[in-house]
Amino acid sequence: MSTLFSTRCAGPSRPVDLAGRPLRSAPWPAPDPAAQHRQRRPTYAGAVRSLGPADVAAAADRISTWVTPTPLQRSARLSELTGATVLLKREDLQPVRSYKLRGAVNLIAGLDEAARRRGVVCASAGNHAQGVALACAELQVPATIFLPSTTPRQKRDRVADLGGKQVTIVVGGETYDDAAAAALDLATDTGAVMVPAFDDQRIVAGQGTVAREIVEQLGRLPDLLLVPVGGGGLLAGCVAAIGGSDADDRLVGLEPAGAASMTAALRHGAPVRLDKIDSFADGTAVRRVGEVTFPIVRDSGCRVSTVAEGAICVEMLALYQTEGIIAEPSGAMASAALSDPDQLAQLPIRQGQTVVAVVSGGNNDVSRYGEVVERALIHEGRKHSFLVEFPQEPGALRRFLDDVLGPDDDIALFEYVKRNNREFGPALVGLELGSRDDLEPLLRRMAASPITVQPVPPDSPLFGLFLS
Ligand SMILES: Cc1ncc(COP(=O)(O)O)c(C=O)c1O
Repeated sequence: MSTLFSTRCAGPSRPVDLAGRPLRSAPWPAPDPAAQHRQRRPTYAGAVRSLGPADVAAAADRISTWVTPTPLQRSARLSELTGATVLLKREDLQPVRSYKLRGAVNLIAGLDEAARRRGVVCASAGNHAQGVALACAELQVPATIFLPSTTPRQKRDRVADLGGKQVTIVVGGETYDDAAAAALDLATDTGAVMVPAFDDQRIVAGQGTVAREIVEQLGRLPDLLLVPVGGGGLLAGCVAAIGGSDADDRLVGLEPAGAASMTAALRHGAPVRLDKIDSFADGTAVRRVGEVTFPIVRDSGCRVSTVAEGAICVEMLALYQTEGIIAEPSGAMASAALSDPDQLAQLPIRQGQTVVAVVSGGNNDVSRYGEVVERALIHEGRKHSFLVEFPQEPGALRRFLDDVLGPDDDIALFEYVKRNNREFGPALVGLELGSRDDLEPLLRRMAASPITVQPVPPDSPLFGLFLS
């Protein structure tokens, strides 16, 4: 097979029902601009009627041979912060290091012999590809997996290792959209079964087994279940597992602030495409939520909130340093809602309740930790950048260090921007503070100093040019 493929953009793969038959689109009514974001009275219209606890129970049965339950682990840190008993659902401990195996196995294990012989096809740059690869290796089903050429070598190797002989990897095209278009072309030409990352009821039911397993392990519903949201597969699955009447009070979906596609869809009354997204939380940085997943989430009335990327970074480091958990950005998003004071204040948590946060994935590349630390420090108000106009005379730098910096302020970056002016040499200076409270006195000392200092905020063009 050629490694070059068409760059035509595909629309979202067509939604199907549990038997694999195409669903009619537009299962939801026209948007009502006056409608409240969070409906207190669920209507359970459309797709949610055909997906409920029985479907998730059937999925749990179907996948039980291949997917082992993951632990619920108490976090002393988050329990202390919240006053609740906080349990982490460790989906990062799956053999593919994310829950994505569940939906993939449910879909593929449910195929009949003829469909299995034709094989399956998917497009993904990450966890979905790994889930499909392992599912196909376990179930002995041939798969063609399209990866955009930007997929890091480590991830390509991981997909190849997990899939073994069953998997053909096709690398090409610039973006996920290119890969998805090529996958769809192959499925159309060969009759291979498309395995979407989220927008399919069989995938949704499989992901819902996470919530079903939590209820089995606890012996009851948690008071609050926090779930990350990308295309909405996991959240919709949890709605189905819990049953509609409990989802509005007990389920909270969290999505990255820089890619809040479910929030946008709920506001518009239908999935909409976001033009610009921050791809930092790569697993959940989705431009448009699913046509199958959206009405399930909307009709459940569950709360959907956003988490700042900086707060995700703070939580990734806390999970690493306190619990010893390697979480990828999307995997740390649900528990970030508990460790971030602004987020926590919005959650309806009472003393002594039981709260579960899903740690959905642990595929984090070690090379990303530099950026994670940087974003975490900025979010905590401990890292600040300045343009400092040093007079070109002996002792200028010494005066800056003595008169302006405080005892716990460290220079994390020092770079002359240019030195061609005879009198002044501007330099970019990054300062790491001991605490966010050290900023005010630092700014006062800067104002009192004869040296001209200009803050460079993280959203300024200068920061984008030199520091991000
Ligand atoms: C680690 C991780 N968490 C969460 C998600 C969000 O998934 P969904 O599309 O089911 O909302 C993904 C999606 O790939 C993921 O990889």
